[in-house]
Amino acid sequence: MSEEKFTKRILCIGAGYVGGPTMAMIAAKCPKYKVTVVDINEDKINAWKSDELPIYEPGLLEVVKQARGRNLFFSTELEKNIKESEIIFVSVNTPTKTFGEGAGKSADLQYWEKCARDIRGSAESDKIIVEKSTLPVKTAIAMERILSENDKGLHFDIVSNPEFLAEGTAIRDLENPDRVLIGSKETESGLKARESIVEIFANWIPRDRLITSNLMSAELSKLVANSFLAQRISSINSISALCEKVDADVSEVAFAIGKDSRIGNRFLNASVGFGGSCFKKDILNLVYLCETFGLYEVAAYWESVVKMNDYQQNRFVQTINSALFNTVTNKRIALFGFAFKANTSDTRESPAFYVTKKLMEEKAHVVISDPKALKNAKMDLKGFNDLIEYEEDPYKAAHKSHAIAVLTEWDLYRELDYEKIYKEMEKPAFIFDGRNILDHQKLFEIGFNVYPIGKPHLIHFKEV
Ligand code: NAD
Ligand code: UGA
Repeated sequence: MSEEKFTKRILCIGAGYVGGPTMAMIAAKCPKYKVTVVDINEDKINAWKSDELPIYEPGLLEVVKQARGRNLFFSTELEKNIKESEIIFVSVNTPTKTFGEGAGKSADLQYWEKCARDIRGSAESDKIIVEKSTLPVKTAIAMERILSENDKGLHFDIVSNPEFLAEGTAIRDLENPDRVLIGSKETESGLKARESIVEIFANWIPRDRLITSNLMSAELSKLVANSFLAQRISSINSISALCEKVDADVSEVAFAIGKDSRIGNRFLNASVGFGGSCFKKDILNLVYLCETFGLYEVAAYWESVVKMNDYQQNRFVQTINSALFNTVTNKRIALFGFAFKANTSDTRESPAFYVTKKLMEEKAHVVISDPKALKNAKMDLKGFNDLIEYEEDPYKAAHKSHAIAVLTEWDLYRELDYEKIYKEMEKPAFIFDGRNILDHQKLFEIGFNVYPIGKPHLIHFKEV
């Protein structure tokens, strides 16, 4: 299609886990729009142009291929693309700040603010700027202030369009979302900008799922959605600790309470803890926001969700240590999974990272296995790589090991030949199922000592 035939020119700054898939979906669904994704990371952009995409996400390559070269483009040229676009999504990273005021809690907005200044510097016409990144409430106002301080007489409307996709199911979530939230100022031009963004998604999403709100509600809703989801996991994880004490089974409890339609059955899988780049960061962001407004009790309430997650990860390592007769030193321990969840190569804030570090402190011989995340695992653990073994094949990883710890719920781990694995392990052989995905009774019958989360331990000797 020639340039003039495109009815909208959309730019996205940031070609990461959100920018790449969301723009690929928009381009695939709307051939009449030109969609360009830019990033400062040239390697990443080159990977987006190839068949070895920079992230693993089921179904993503097919969607990218549908539109790439037709109306979807990847580039490192920021200035030219800013000039050309009417709508700019900003989807850069907003990690937790590690220095200065708010360190450890508030969002580090340096990448975000740089984008605002780059847009202001290069723009030659009015534009709609869409917040795609997850941001503290009122960031839109700060952005508007920066952008409006231009001497070219340009007008910028800020729209908040937080992303709710989950990794591993991103394509399904983008194609068929529960809702898309679009917030804007309720001025004439704010409402017009809002409608312009609604129009994009209305190409494939029913109108009743396109929710609109004011800017602050949209920004806040994103933080609250993640906090509520994480809270459910911490709630069930807290109960898993109690289940282990009273011989209850956390899956049965979750099933029983989930049958109440007011509670619902999703996000009640007890685990070694939640990971991922966002839950902890976004809750801490909410905590910081509450503290800023003097709402200390509210802040403490939400902070406890993160504390419970830390407790659960630590409890898992303690269980391994005490089961292995209080010493893991020089013991070979195979970790099945390093990604923070199945079907992604992402390892950010993965519980596996915490477990590895703790086991290394005890001088265990850790062997990490994962079908997609070994590259990221090696980067996360650089500095320790002489001491860690990486082995994609789980059979080889488990060979001569004293224990296996399942840390990611990859389907592949459900389907392994555990009789074969057992035969090749040191005895007594232990398995710690941090995701409750295995057939525990069967493993016990094979000969394993089995430690699920929130269920009775199945052991062949009296616990010391
Ligand atoms: P990411 O780190 O994968 O991607 C961010 C990209 O932005 C990086 O490739 C980085 O190089 C690029 N970038 C940073 N500064 C830039 C600049 N000035 N110009 C051009 N490119 C720049 O991060 P992500 O996981 O995609 O998350 C992005 C935002 O979306 C975050 O705010 C996050 O909280 C939010 N979010 C993430 C998810 C998720 O599943 N990962 C889901 C919903 C929302
Ligand atoms: C989460 C939200 O689900 C998305 O809606 C949101 O857009 C995204 O964060 C974000 O803002 O980044 P994501 O982190 O990709 O998505 O994955 P989830 O499926 O939410 O899982 C998060 C963590 O919780 C994983 O470690 C997962 O294994 C764990 N989890 C999840 C449990 O331990 N138990 C459960 O029942 C569900």
